[in-house]
Amino acid sequence: MQIVTIAAVAQNGVIGDGLDIPWSIPEDWDRFRSLTTGNFVVMGRSTYESIGRPLPNRTTVVVTRQQDFEAPKPIGRTRVLVAHGVDEALHMARTARGSLPKDITYIAGGGEIYAQTMDKANALDITVVKTSPEGSVHFPEIDLGKWLEVRREQHETHDYVKYVPRTFTERLTLVPATPADAGEWLALAQHPDVAAQSPELVVRDEAEAVERLGRRAASWDAWSLDQWTIRRTADDAFIGIGGLRRKELENGDHVWSLDYQLVPEMQGNGYTPEMVMAALQQVRLVDREARVRAMIRPRNVKSIEIAQEAGLQKVEERVDAAGNPIYLFQGWVRHLV
Ligand SMILES: NC(=O)c1ccc[n+]([C@@H]2O[C@H](COP(=O)([O-])OP(=O)(O)OC[C@H]3O[C@@H](n4cnc5c(N)ncnc54)[C@H](OP(=O)(O)O)[C@@H]3O)[C@@H](O)[C@H]2O)c1
Repeated sequence: MQIVTIAAVAQNGVIGDGLDIPWSIPEDWDRFRSLTTGNFVVMGRSTYESIGRPLPNRTTVVVTRQQDFEAPKPIGRTRVLVAHGVDEALHMARTARGSLPKDITYIAGGGEIYAQTMDKANALDITVVKTSPEGSVHFPEIDLGKWLEVRREQHETHDYVKYVPRTFTERLTLVPATPADAGEWLALAQHPDVAAQSPELVVRDEAEAVERLGRRAASWDAWSLDQWTIRRTADDAFIGIGGLRRKELENGDHVWSLDYQLVPEMQGNGYTPEMVMAALQQVRLVDREARVRAMIRPRNVKSIEIAQEAGLQKVEERVDAAGNPIYLFQGWVRHLV
């Protein structure tokens, strides 16, 4: 389940004044409705009461400390559940989903609930409202050391901006891949050793790198997971690329494909397993019922070891497009380390 925080935030951080929102952007409200319809929406009791009615065709989880708070009876797909803390609300969303089309829970405010869930969100979907009104309720500061902008859609009165988190392991900073990384990606793909190892991954020029990275950023936007640009935290050195890419299968199912390319001089330091563990932790948060797979060449003994250590099992031996043998490793996310 992805946890996506959705908020309209003025340039000075204001999101509300008392119970009101000090602006009106019907287009933003329509967008909120279309994104959240059919999904779970978590909100504080004040926000719930300021809206004045259950949001139709959604399950609203109202967070309150009042033990006797009564939710109205469900009508069709319009339901209201009551939770007595944010963890309980998210647990309810995770376990009581039923047959929902998309596995996203939206955190819809207000200020108290945003503040308590910033470190639980897999993405921030922020409408930046181009005004600075007075108001008593604020959005928490978005720390750009922790969050990366992967999409910005500009409009006259507001921008739609999507942020996804940077991930930190013991030695690595894992930055969601975007076209900003094109230069380093291109140099890596064109490194003679890398090109010889994985000819199918060669990137011809900067334009192709930008185009491919645009797709990576779009996947981050959609799924809160994709490939990272891997950096060493100590000196910000570029180590390589890697992570999990979502692949749609012909039968309508999907898998997460594990792949990575490291700068040859950076290999042999244990950075790959460190990144792989972070990727598996991340997919466990956003898509627990899925499978992970990796295609590995028989001679790539180190990668086979890493896959096995992660809990992936060899399920098939195939040949690739060039007629070379390749192993398919696979495992269910919930069974991986
Ligand atoms: N611009 C936007 O996108 C946006 C979105 C949503 C809301 N807003 C605005 O935000 C304002 C409301 O925000 P707010 O910060 O005042 O209130 P809020 O976050 O909506 O709700 C606060 C209430 O949530 C409950 N609560 C909070 N933490 C809890 C916890 N750990 N355990 C159990 N219950 C907990 C408490 O309810 P009880 O008092 O019942 O115990 C608390 O009074 C309004 O102005 C609204 O218009 C703006």
